[in-house]
Amino acid sequence: EELSFSEAILRASGSISRFPLIPVRGVPLMCSIANNWDSVWSFCPDPADLLIATYPKAGTTWTQEIVDLLLHNGDAEACKRAPTPVRSPFLEIFSPPPIPSGLDYLKNMDPPRIIKTHLPFQLVPTGFWENKCKVIYVSRNAKDNLVSYFHFDCMNMTQPEPGPWEGYISKFMHGELSWGSWYDHVKGYWAEREKRNILYLFYEDMKENPRREVERIMRYLDLSVSDEVISRIVELTSFKNMKENPMTNYSCVPPPVFDQSISPFMRKGEVGDWRNHFTPEQSKMFDEDYEKQMKGVNIPFRDLI
Ligand code: A3P
Repeated sequence: EELSFSEAILRASGSISRFPLIPVRGVPLMCSIANNWDSVWSFCPDPADLLIATYPKAGTTWTQEIVDLLLHNGDAEACKRAPTPVRSPFLEIFSPPPIPSGLDYLKNMDPPRIIKTHLPFQLVPTGFWENKCKVIYVSRNAKDNLVSYFHFDCMNMTQPEPGPWEGYISKFMHGELSWGSWYDHVKGYWAEREKRNILYLFYEDMKENPRREVERIMRYLDLSVSDEVISRIVELTSFKNMKENPMTNYSCVPPPVFDQSISPFMRKGEVGDWRNHFTPEQSKMFDEDYEKQMKGVNIPFRDLI
């Protein structure tokens, strides 16, 4: 009999630890991923598969839910058939047995599959480009993304220790966190968006006008759903509703992997929370470095200053 996702995690309890990072082509990845890199790199999607790519904590889960609802014409019950990581597998993730890997889940699903990845552009298996798969990239302003990642690393016991806040800012700026440099990540997909027909979204736009962004995703996917269904999807994917929904709030990943008593997965869901974390000096130092790292690229990030 197939174990439920939560049950598999509980059985793996004894082997959960904060994985060290190992570089794969210069990008630090959890050793569990690096050690299985060949099988990730050789994954070949179906042309009907859809990839949702993000730097961690940019709004992946939110976008996965919007897409699943769009594909199910806003049917809330259908989208409660399983928790997010089972409905929309995480391409490169490997956890201790008996937790299935992302590739294990994908093997047992029929296209079109909604595949999640945090890999930077250059590490995305080339089959996605050869098969002209649709790719949605979600980005989030650097400071809010950093803040969200900091809290996540406190509660995710498989990620390296975040250490103190000040040092975490420095690790982020130097690209030393899991999945590497935020700057390279957002720039990598930005540079390829036209050539590869990537839909490049911003978390801040989704917060500002979720309806507009849901419609944008709908058009990109060549779907057409009624205005009423769009309204329902916007409502079902509000922060509040996703925080209460056991299929989207990651309660499916119990301690000791996610300790939501330290920080909930659905933490704040706001734009500008960085102001509650950065001192004016830290913000100034960050901005100066940001300007250097983002020189010559004009990605319209907002709410950063
Ligand atoms: P915060 O830590 O700032 O609250 P990911 O899914 O990529 O891991 O991103 C998680 C971040 O997106 C968290 O940010 C989480 O609260 C936020 N988030 C998740 N669902 C959301 C929603 N429906 N609306 C707004 N923010 C959401």
